Amino acid sequence: MKDQILLVQNDALAAIAAAPDARSLEEARVSVLGKKGSLTVLSAGMKDVPPAEKGEIGQLLNSARTAITAALDAKQADLQEIADRAALVGIDPTLPARALPAGAVHPLTLLRERAVGILRRMGFALADGPEIEDEFHCFDALNTPADHPARNAKDTFYFDSGKLLRTHTSSVQIRMMEKCAPPLRITAPGTAYRRDEIDSTHLSAFHQLEGLYVDTDVSLPDLKGTLEAFLREMFGADTAVRFRPHFFPFTEPSFEIDVKLEVKGQAPRWIEVAGCGMVDPAVFEAVCQSRKDRAYDPEKVTGFAFGMGLERLAMIQWGIRDIRLLIENDVRFLRQFA
Ligand code: PHE
Repeated sequence: MKDQILLVQNDALAAIAAAPDARSLEEARVSVLGKKGSLTVLSAGMKDVPPAEKGEIGQLLNSARTAITAALDAKQADLQEIADRAALVGIDPTLPARALPAGAVHPLTLLRERAVGILRRMGFALADGPEIEDEFHCFDALNTPADHPARNAKDTFYFDSGKLLRTHTSSVQIRMMEKCAPPLRITAPGTAYRRDEIDSTHLSAFHQLEGLYVDTDVSLPDLKGTLEAFLREMFGADTAVRFRPHFFPFTEPSFEIDVKLEVKGQAPRWIEVAGCGMVDPAVFEAVCQSRKDRAYDPEKVTGFAFGMGLERLAMIQWGIRDIRLLIENDVRFLRQFA
C-alpha cells in the first residue's frame, strides 16, 4: 500500500509537470483526484488496512494529496502567466491611454453658475420653486389682475387643471416670503415659459435669474448699487449699464436694465437684460394674507426684486447674435465654450 501511494504520487507529479495546457492539467487532476482517480481509489482501500497501520497509511495518503494539490495550483498559475504573456504579444501596456472626448458644461449653465456665485457672495441664498405653478403665485399675489395681458391664454401655457407653466421666476418670490420671515435675501434661477414667437432674441422656454431682498430699510439706491455691481462683476468694470423706467405690476417704481453690447465689427447696441424695481406694497399685503400674519407688513418692510434673462446675459458675455444658437445643441457652437 505504501509503495502504491508513492507510485501514484510520483506519477501524478510527473503528469502535472508535463501538462502543456489547462486541459491536460485538468485531465491529470481528474485521473488522480477525480471520483475514480488513482488516489481516490487508494483512499477507499483504507477500510481494509489493519488498525495498526491505519495511522501511518493515513498520513501518507494525506501528504500525497497535499503535494499533488500544491503542484496542481502551482502549474495552473504558471499556465495562466504564459497565457497572459501570449495575449499581450505586440501590445505595450505601458503606453499612455488615448484621451476620450470629454463633454463640457453648456454655456448657459456656465453663466448661471457664475451669476449665482456672485450673488451668493453678496448674501443672496439659493432658492427654488415649481415650474408648474398656480395663478395665485404667478399672478394674483404679484398684483397682476385677471385682465392683465400676461395672463391671456395667448401668452401663457395653461393646463386643463388651471395650473400653468410659470411665465417668470417671480413666483418664487411669493413662495419664499410665504415660507420665511424677513429679512430675506434670495436668488432663484430657473426656466420660464411664454407663448412667444421664437426669433433671434426670443424663446418660448428660457431661463431667468430672480432676486429678492426684503428688510426694514431697503431702498432704491440699494437696488441700483447691487445690480450695477453685479453686472460689472459679470462683464467687466467698464460695462455700460442703463436703467430705463418701466412698469411691472409687482414693483413700484420699476425699471428695465440694458447693458451695452459691443462686438467687434458691429455697431454697439443696448440689450435688455433684466426687469427690476421696489416691491409693491400690494405684494407684501398678499403675502401677509397668505401667511396669516403681519411679518411682511408694508408699513414695516421694504424690498427690491429683479429678474434677469440668462440667455440675454450669455449673448452679452460672448457676443452671441442669435439666441436660438443656445438651444440648437450644435456641437460646433457649444465646443467654443468647452
Ligand atoms: N418677472 C419680470 C419679467 O419676467 C421681471 C421682474 C422681476 C421685474 C422682478 C421686476 C422685478 O419680465
